[in-house]
Amino acid sequence: MSQEIQDLLAPISFSQDHQPVLLNEVVGAFWGFREKQNLRYFDGTFGRGGHYKALKKMAPQMNAVVMDQDQEALSYAEKEFMTEVQNKELIFIPKNFSHFTDSNLNLFDMMFLDLGVSSPQLDKSDRGFSFYHQGPLDMRMNQQQTMTAEYIINTWSEKDLVSLFQDYGEIYSPFRVVRAIVHDRKTKAFTMTQELAGLIERVEGWRKKGFHPATQFFMALRLVVNQELEVLRDTLPAMIQSLIPGGRLVVITFHSLEDRIVKNIFRDSKEWGYPVNKKVIIASDEEQKTNPRSRSAKLRIFERIVQDEQRESFPT
Ligand SMILES: C[S@@+](CC[C@H](N)C(=O)[O-])C[C@H]1O[C@@H](n2cnc3c(N)ncnc32)[C@H](O)[C@@H]1O
Repeated sequence: MSQEIQDLLAPISFSQDHQPVLLNEVVGAFWGFREKQNLRYFDGTFGRGGHYKALKKMAPQMNAVVMDQDQEALSYAEKEFMTEVQNKELIFIPKNFSHFTDSNLNLFDMMFLDLGVSSPQLDKSDRGFSFYHQGPLDMRMNQQQTMTAEYIINTWSEKDLVSLFQDYGEIYSPFRVVRAIVHDRKTKAFTMTQELAGLIERVEGWRKKGFHPATQFFMALRLVVNQELEVLRDTLPAMIQSLIPGGRLVVITFHSLEDRIVKNIFRDSKEWGYPVNKKVIIASDEEQKTNPRSRSAKLRIFERIVQDEQRESFPT
């Protein structure tokens, strides 16, 4: 199967600014559906549609409903996948996938989440996600929401900032950084990414080679600005229940707290199905070398059970 998958994927050209991670593994997880008629796919984190494109190549008969809360993803999809959008083979709902439940979506064979931010979001300085680029302290995936990283840094109490960095950044002792933030913002509000990153670097210093001291602070802020863990925790159970019997849900996470949520929800959904892989799937050494984003990626697969009577009538 893996050679077949490689042959299938080799001719596809993906968006130059985002390399999809664990592509072979995602296609492999859905391989059994490739010849199924009336195939229905849901993707809650469309991005540049890299995984969608590969799955559409695997199963051209597939119909897709996809979501992304970033307007840029919508503009990209309308241009890049114009024919599929016009033919209604690709329906784009420009919303947070937390709206999955109120969008009356159901009966999917294949469901997919590739969480976090896309490379274009990370690389564009004006989105404020990265401390390597000078930009506004923004970090919103949905640019229509009001809460930004700037708001949190300049208005939250010292106690709340400490909890934020401990709970979401898993930073054991953020006290000195938080004290410095609260002290400095009295004179001048923080507005730019590198003002904050510079302060963290000054207070913490570089402890681990190649690992910027601001990494976990920025990650924590991003998770809170976008309510990423809460949305995942609240929506994943509904997604599981929207699989048809025998259908599969594949989730890629980039953060240990996210992976824990996925692992626990999959484990606790016995009544609906079971986790397919006991051990989490990670990128090959080769992929980790060519695509650094894949280094922290973890993939889990859930399959909905087929009841005996359904097993007989379920089309294969
Ligand atoms: C890692 S990228 C997905 C990349 C995509 N699989 C590809 O190959 O092009 C994540 C995307 O999901 C979107 N996203 C993240 N969390 C979301 C949420 N809760 N609701 C909707 N979109 C979300 C981001 O805006 C981003 O475009």
